[in-house]
Amino acid sequence: MLNIIGIGLKDEKSITLEGLELIKDSDVLYLETYTSKLTNATITDLEKFYKKKIIKADREVVEKQAETTILKDAKTKKVSFLVMGDPFSATTHMDLLQRAREKKIKVNIINNVSILNAIGIVGLELYKYGKTTSIPFDNENVTSPLDVYEKNKEIGLHTLFLLDLRPEENKYMSCKEATDYLIRCGLNKTTLVISCAQIGSNNPVIRTSKVKDVKLINKYPQCLIIPGNLHFVEEELISQ
Ligand SMILES: C[S@@+](CC[C@H](N)C(=O)[O-])C[C@H]1O[C@@H](n2cnc3c(N)ncnc32)[C@H](O)[C@@H]1O
Repeated sequence: MLNIIGIGLKDEKSITLEGLELIKDSDVLYLETYTSKLTNATITDLEKFYKKKIIKADREVVEKQAETTILKDAKTKKVSFLVMGDPFSATTHMDLLQRAREKKIKVNIINNVSILNAIGIVGLELYKYGKTTSIPFDNENVTSPLDVYEKNKEIGLHTLFLLDLRPEENKYMSCKEATDYLIRCGLNKTTLVISCAQIGSNNPVIRTSKVKDVKLINKYPQCLIIPGNLHFVEEELISQ
C-alpha cells in the first residue's frame, strides 16, 4: 500500500489526523525533501513526533529510483510518502501515483494545505490569480516568469512567483533576489509587489512595497506576488 500524504506548511502538527493515523500504521516512511521546506520543523522533529525513522527521498530517488525503493516497498509493505504542503499542488507527484497504479499498488491520497491556498492570507482573492510561475536560481537566460506576469497583467490578474530552493544545500531564493532578477528582466522599478515569507507559520512576513524597495527578509521559504487589478477591499488589505 502507498499513502501519499501532504504534511502541510508549518510543523510536525500540521498533518491531518487521517494522515497521522496512516503514518502510525506504516512500515516505511519516505519524506520528499527537494521541493519545499516546513516553516518550523526539521526532519528530526517529524521523526520524534511520528516516533518513526524517516527515509529522505531526493529527486533522484523519487524520479529515477522509485521502482527499486518506494514502489518496491509498497508492493509488500505499508509505505507512506510524505510531501510538504499538498502532494498535488505546485509540486506534482502525479508520476509516482501513475506508476503505483500501473503496478496495481493500492494508493491513499491525503491532501493538506498548500502555498497555493495559504497565500490567501495576503488579502488578494484567490480566484483572481492568473498562472503561477517559478524563478529558478540559474536564470541568466530565462525570461518566462516576466512573460507570465505580463500575460496575467493584461487581463488584470495577480501573479504568484514561487522561488527556487535547494533544501539539501540550505539554499533558498529570497524576494530580494527575485525582484533584482525581475528588474534585470525589465520590470518597472515602481511596480507594487508583495514579499512573503513563512506563510502558514505563526509569524508570517507579508510586506507590500515598490519592487525597487524590497528588502532582504531572513526567513524562508519565500514567495512573491505582483498584484493585478485591485478591488478596493484588496487594496485596503494589502496596505495594512
Ligand atoms: C514547489 S512549491 C511547494 C509545493 C508544496 N507541495 C505545496 O503544496 O505548498 C515550493 C515553493 O513554494 C513557496 N513556498 C512554499 N512554502 C512556503 C511558505 N510557507 N511561505 C512562503 N512560500 C512558500 C516557495 O517559493 C517554495 O520555493
